[in-house]
Amino acid sequence: MTEYENYFIPVYKRIEKRITGSEGSYLITEDGKYLDMFGGLGVNSLGYNVSNVNNAIKAQLEKFSHLSNYFEAEPVGKLAEYIVNNTFAEKVFFTNSGTEAIEAGMKLIRKYGKANRKSTIVTFSHAFHGRTLAAASVTAPDNSSPYNFPGGVPNVMTLKFNDTGDLDKINGDTAGVFVEFIQGQGGVNVADSEFARKLRERTAMFKAVLMADEIQSGMGRTGRLFSFEHFGIVPDIAVTAKAIGGGLPLGVLMAGREHCDILGYGEHGSTFGGNPVSCAAGLETIKIINRPEFLKSVEEKGKILLSEILRLKEKYRGKIGRVSGMGLMIGAEILKDHEKIIPLFLERKIFVNITHRNILRLLPPLVIGKKEIEFFLKEFDSILSDL
Ligand SMILES: Cc1ncc(COP(=O)(O)O)c(C=O)c1O
Repeated sequence: MTEYENYFIPVYKRIEKRITGSEGSYLITEDGKYLDMFGGLGVNSLGYNVSNVNNAIKAQLEKFSHLSNYFEAEPVGKLAEYIVNNTFAEKVFFTNSGTEAIEAGMKLIRKYGKANRKSTIVTFSHAFHGRTLAAASVTAPDNSSPYNFPGGVPNVMTLKFNDTGDLDKINGDTAGVFVEFIQGQGGVNVADSEFARKLRERTAMFKAVLMADEIQSGMGRTGRLFSFEHFGIVPDIAVTAKAIGGGLPLGVLMAGREHCDILGYGEHGSTFGGNPVSCAAGLETIKIINRPEFLKSVEEKGKILLSEILRLKEKYRGKIGRVSGMGLMIGAEILKDHEKIIPLFLERKIFVNITHRNILRLLPPLVIGKKEIEFFLKEFDSILSDL
């Protein structure tokens, strides 16, 4: 793909495959179809070509493709109403991406902090919250990767993820806490239930805003609409993006009752955020995902995938380390020859992703079938036996 080598600032290590089409959980390339365990980095939860979503997009396109946020459009209002009626949120703000939703949350927290004389923002080791400078300031703060970018938001304090003792550092000066209850890019690290409980307790005690990042773990990925539901926790504010747009750019900041009126007129905005076409796609997508039988199927398929990977870990001792995840967000630490994993899966016509150096991170479309899961496991077994 010479144009990619020649004309792009080289921030991505691309898999050299040109995608020409899609079919359910498969991507079609010039040399055949590949099972997708990559899932568009968590975007393509319903696959790549979903008729209900496409119809909603087409219907909206025939009316208008863009409208300034100074006017009202039906799918935008309806999506906001759906989110408020089905989640803890009292009000929402739409963005084009995850990092922009984090940015909106950061501004809300900083304004709240200023008004209440609280200056510290807390994040956790191995966190990933996005690429804009504010989001990067609370990303990989332990400098574990190039995602961290110095020179952003000041007064960020890093606590150790899953260290309940470290949570004692949350105090009266803490304005807000950014947390992924399942860290994605940082290696699929699931919060311990005691850690999650104490985090909620201390943020409530000191009136610090608890901000859940559900950009990757939300929208049914873990078998619940949001991953914080597994911990019996309600955050003060939360963000989601990726899957919610059904393949189009969309993110949302959701704010609960006590924090929904902090940002006021003129203090935030976006020309494209909450584009009517993206919201029409988003409304269809969330309605499909938020059905109890859909979420249950994600949970069931996730349990099969996780337990079978644990079985492979036993079978091939020393080749797989930590295995973790919830629903269809699963990580398996590859202890041997991790750099060979992507090419070995490619030979077997499967797309996978490796994150955090050696974590095989599986984010398949949530509509993946049991047959496809079996195919993946059979090929993973054969790769491990050859390693
Ligand atoms: C947990 C989390 N937060 C934030 C982001 C940033 O989202 P976006 O790439 O849409 O800006 C990501 C993207 O991978 C993510 O996984």
